[in-house]
Amino acid sequence: MKLRFLIVKHAATSCANVIANYLDLEHLDMHDNLASCEVLSESERAACFTLTSRVGPFRFRNVHYYEFRPPNQIVNVVKSPLGPMKVVSTVREIDADTPGVRCEVDVETELDLPAALRPLGALLVRLLRRVNRRVLEEDREILERRQRLLGGSIEDYLRDGQFLLFKETFREHFSRRAP
Ligand SMILES: [Fe+2]
Repeated sequence: MKLRFLIVKHAATSCANVIANYLDLEHLDMHDNLASCEVLSESERAACFTLTSRVGPFRFRNVHYYEFRPPNQIVNVVKSPLGPMKVVSTVREIDADTPGVRCEVDVETELDLPAALRPLGALLVRLLRRVNRRVLEEDREILERRQRLLGGSIEDYLRDGQFLLFKETFREHFSRRAP
């Protein structure tokens, strides 16, 4: 049984900043319900990592397959205890390169729930929506604060010693500095 739901998030910032936030695994500790991320493998635009999530009283250490589809999409497939879950985030930038730049992000979740858990489907969707909305709201605060302080610049993410997934692919698409 496949459960699907969509969350549309908004943030007053650029597409580059939204994507950088997705690729910056170091900021995950700022989320109350996420911790202990460990990257197991990484190529130019795909990676595998483990991440601990807290949902209510439960802790799950999940394996994530993470893919950047430049310039504006992130695919996250999770081997979760509830079954395989796929989350596709697609960013649409509005009024690019103006002071009013902002983004709409479609976050589409698909959970392939085992038959035994079907009666819990509606409850699980409510719980996952609540957890996702909380993370998205925390990210919106980070993104809008960055936009106020740094404008659209993402060059700090590209400094030596700063960890960012798929750093060179991100640089190709979003850096405004000459190589
Ligand atoms: Fe975040």
